[in-house]
Amino acid sequence: TFVVTDNCIKCKYTDCVEVCPVDCFHEGENFLVIDPDECIDCSLCVPECPAEAIFAEDDLPADQVKFIKINADLSVNWPVISEMIPHPEDAAEWDGVKDKLKYLKE
Ligand code: SF4
Ligand code: F3S
Repeated sequence: TFVVTDNCIKCKYTDCVEVCPVDCFHEGENFLVIDPDECIDCSLCVPECPAEAIFAEDDLPADQVKFIKINADLSVNWPVISEMIPHPEDAAEWDGVKDKLKYLKE
């Protein structure tokens, strides 16, 4: 499966959702997650993310492995998002900031 990682937090560009053939992205207030039970491993979303926040589970950097469970858990209750929406005004300022997990709004 594919996994949305730390750098999506507070960037939330949503380009990724437009290309997903199975609509498996789910939306929170300042982060998106992928439902691991729906993702078909097509990898189309990876190059769409301006923040380079999406990885194949097997390619996750060691410090991002915790996002496997975060995606699985949060996708249960967050609603599906399948159309791009405007990103936060300060998205560019947050792109590349490390360890944004503390800002994640569940
Ligand atoms: Fe959707 Fe494909 Fe990305 Fe999985 S890898 S989330 S199926 S676009
Ligand atoms: Fe997040 Fe990148 Fe999608 S920032 S919302 S994973 S395009």
